[in-house]
Amino acid sequence: MIPTALPEPELFTTASGDPSLGWGIVGPGWIAGEFATAVRASTAQRIVAVASRSLPRASAFAAEHGIEAAVEGVDALVARPDVDVVYIATPQSEHAAVALAAIAAGKHVLIEKPFTVTAAEARTVADAARAAGVFAMEGMWSRYLPQASVLRTLLADGALGEVRSVLADHGQAIPFGPDHRLFRPELGGGALLDLGIYAVQFASMVLGAPQRVTARGRLTESGVDASGSLVLEHGAAQAVLHTTIAARTPTTASIAGTEGTIAFAGPFYNPTTFTISAAAHGSPVLHWDDPTPLRGFAALAWEATALARFVGEGRTESPLHTLDETISILETIDTARAQIAAG
Ligand SMILES: NC(=O)c1ccc[n+]([C@@H]2O[C@H](COP(=O)([O-])OP(=O)(O)OC[C@H]3O[C@@H](n4cnc5c(N)ncnc54)[C@H](OP(=O)(O)O)[C@@H]3O)[C@@H](O)[C@H]2O)c1
Repeated sequence: MIPTALPEPELFTTASGDPSLGWGIVGPGWIAGEFATAVRASTAQRIVAVASRSLPRASAFAAEHGIEAAVEGVDALVARPDVDVVYIATPQSEHAAVALAAIAAGKHVLIEKPFTVTAAEARTVADAARAAGVFAMEGMWSRYLPQASVLRTLLADGALGEVRSVLADHGQAIPFGPDHRLFRPELGGGALLDLGIYAVQFASMVLGAPQRVTARGRLTESGVDASGSLVLEHGAAQAVLHTTIAARTPTTASIAGTEGTIAFAGPFYNPTTFTISAAAHGSPVLHWDDPTPLRGFAALAWEATALARFVGEGRTESPLHTLDETISILETIDTARAQIAAG
């Protein structure tokens, strides 16, 4: 039943018991810059080293973000005793290899989304992390936002009744460029792995693994998926998802059940607002606003503090996004990509 008041979010605000981990960054590109800025501004975590394929690029990034050590290559980074956890922000094609090197050196890993390009690679990384007893988590930052905590409570309380429908999309207009990683098959390019994964993980969070996946889409001239529309079947419930790198879509998400509907304003995977309305008359009954100051990529800080808390609790994976779920999400994406490629 729709509640009369919304639950308070559980926040990953730095707490006195959280370890202040030493972080090493691999892949000092765009998102690594956003992550470093967010971590410095809003957490007690320490970024101690950065690795690039080129020492001058590592040094420039280190100077910009106040990081003490800049090194060339992954091996030099993971050999450092001051690095407890490696944040992997390379293109997805490199995620598995970098993660395996970090895990072999006994480091925890936070791997940018997508965890890896395929579910098979994800299983290899998960097995290695479990065997080494280190912590491994996908940087699916949406899971650690305040709004995700409120949503989890609402769903656990059965606020929507029985969920029947999940709708989510993520589209951005990215001009075609043969050198851009998103258009390069060998770097794990394409809409689904980069943008659609947010919609797939949203559906997975609500409905779990689908029984059947049906996908149609279109490829770019370079052979990656430009757009895709997915139907995921879950017994009485369906998820309908869309993603594209060819157009800016509303990037909204909603969950509808027998008693009510939650609708997230776009972009739903960022800090945003939502309404929850009763199925009987449909008018918004409650409106949620993020009470914290973190907006946009400043909110990457939540996942860093979450990881430190989980490590401090002695965990080896995120209770909010397990390695098995990470693998299952990539299985859905594998199936959808194969269907789109087959035409
Ligand atoms: N969480 C989010 O909201 C978010 C947003 C954007 C992207 N991402 C994810 O973050 C990752 C990086 O994306 P990005 O947009 O930051 O990419 P980017 O700007 O191209 O940066 C990637 C960096 O990886 C390094 N790298 C290592 N091997 C490479 C290779 N074979 N080819 C190209 N670069 C290589 C490069 O640094 P050096 O050459 O200096 O080593 C490059 O600067 C992707 O997995 C992406 O899906 C997440």
